Parts: sequence; C-alpha cells; structure tokens
Amino acid sequence: MSILSVFDEKNPTAPKKVTPPKVRSPKWDFSDFHFDLPNPDATENNVFRRAYLIGLSMLFPEGERFFIRAVKRYADAIQDPQLKKDVKAFIAQEAQHGRQHEILNETFGQKYDVDSFLKNWTGFAFGFLEKLSEKYIPLGGGKLELAITAAAEHFTATWGAAALKSPSFAAFESQSIKDLIYWHAIEEIEHKHVAFDVMREVSPNYFLRTGAMLITGVLIGGLSAWGFSHIFLEEIKNHLKEGKPLDIAQVIRSIGYESFDKDGMFRQFAVAFVTYFRPNFHPSDMDDQALFEEFASLVDERTQKVA
Ligand SMILES: [Fe+2]
Ligand SMILES: [Fe+2]
Repeated sequence: MSILSVFDEKNPTAPKKVTPPKVRSPKWDFSDFHFDLPNPDATENNVFRRAYLIGLSMLFPEGERFFIRAVKRYADAIQDPQLKKDVKAFIAQEAQHGRQHEILNETFGQKYDVDSFLKNWTGFAFGFLEKLSEKYIPLGGGKLELAITAAAEHFTATWGAAALKSPSFAAFESQSIKDLIYWHAIEEIEHKHVAFDVMREVSPNYFLRTGAMLITGVLIGGLSAWGFSHIFLEEIKNHLKEGKPLDIAQVIRSIGYESFDKDGMFRQFAVAFVTYFRPNFHPSDMDDQALFEEFASLVDERTQKVA
C-alpha cells in the first residue's frame, strides 16, 4: 500500500444527491444581441459586465475541450454504470457549450479583437502548459489534468449558481444571451459531480485534489483577469476614439457588488475555493437543487423552442 493512500478520500458512504445530466441541443445565432441599446439599464450597456461576459466566453470553448480530454482519458476505468452514462452526457454537454460560445464569440468579434486573445491564451494553456504536463509529470499529467478539471468544474458550477441569481444577467435585453447563460448555468450545476467522481474513482487523494485546486485557482483567476483586461482596454480605447466618457462609477459599483454582495460572483468564487479544502468534500455538498429546478424547466422550454 502506498503511503499516500492514507490520504485517500474514497468515501462511499458520503451522501450523493445528483441529477443525471441531460443533453440539450440549442442553436442560437445571437442576432438579437446589440452592443449599445437605448435602455440605460440594459446590461449590454454596462462596460464592466460586457468585458466580463466576453472575457469568460472567450475561455469557454477551448477550456471545455480540455475538460473533455481530461475526463475522456479515464472513461474506460470507470466502474460505476451511472457514472459511465454521466460521463457521456458531460462530454456532450461541454461540446455543445463550446460550439454555442464559439458562435457568440464570432458576434463579439465584430467589435472586439477576439481572435488575438483566443490565439494567445490557448497557445499558453494548451500549446505550453498542457504539453509541459504531458511531457514532464511522472507517468504523464493525466491525473493532475483530471484533478484540475474537477477543480475547474467546481468553479463553473459556482458560476452557474451565481449566474442564475444574478440581477445583471437577468437584465440583458437579448433573449438569446439570457437563454445561453441560463442553459449553460443549469448544465454546469447538472454535471458538477462528473469530473469529480471520475477523479475520485481513479485517484481519490486529498493532496492531489487540493493541490490541483491551488493551481486551478491561479489559472482561472489569471486567465479570467487576462480576458477581462483585454476587452476592457479595448473599451477604453474605443471610448477615447469616440470621445465618449467611460462610466467609472458604474464599473466600481459593479466590482463592489460582485465582490461584497452575498450573491456576488467574486465572493462566491472565494467561498467555493475555501470550501474545496474540506476533507471529503463533494460538489453535491453545495445545495443548489431548488435553484436548479426553478430554472431547468424554463431552460427546457426555451431550448425546445430554439432546437
Ligand atoms: Fe460548460
Ligand atoms: Fe462543465
């Protein structure tokens, strides 16, 4: 027995309340999204929120393809028949998210330089970091990549729950943007256990799990800040070129809300990060079932209309 197995977390008695993921196939073209609207309260007009949404959307397609690669590698090692099914649904859901965010990113690309950011961040994350992990981590970086995926999925599920409660997301005028956010958010909640349970089957070690969370916290924090700044700098340049003042007070108010309000996203991310260090933590410990159910029927109705 390896000395590290003392820290193994396999805990089959832990309660697991999970909804099996369901594959939906919406197709939005986002033609109802406009960068500026007459309604001053529309979220489309908020420079901070626009940069935040675009910054995240630029990370999703290739980030989610990395999650698929990391989980797929261990698909054959899974014993639990329900988890096997959930892995298939997880892969299908993430593939759909990637495709829809790519279409959205093309819309954003009409105004912002999306392509250079996509090239730079994917080159850094997958052309450099992933290759480094594959080449130099003993026995290959697969287990670390899976643990990073489990940690990242804890953040995307946290994002999902925060997005469903967010008044600013509800205030987008574009119906297709709202539909995309709610659809992506509920599916992140729906499959939040999948990468984690695969990790628990193949390498249930506390130090691997929490070490991966430290790396993931730095990576996701850094990449999100990079994406946000890339777009926000373009906003500043555009405002200067057009001679329009930038609403700095609105930016500060938005950052303050996300950082300090109990439902603010940055605050939720910080809580999620700390909670992950609890021994025998499981994503289903975060109870967002009522919120999920409230939005799932709405999403099913909307995606049926779109599909
Ligand atoms: Fe996703
Ligand atoms: Fe996900």
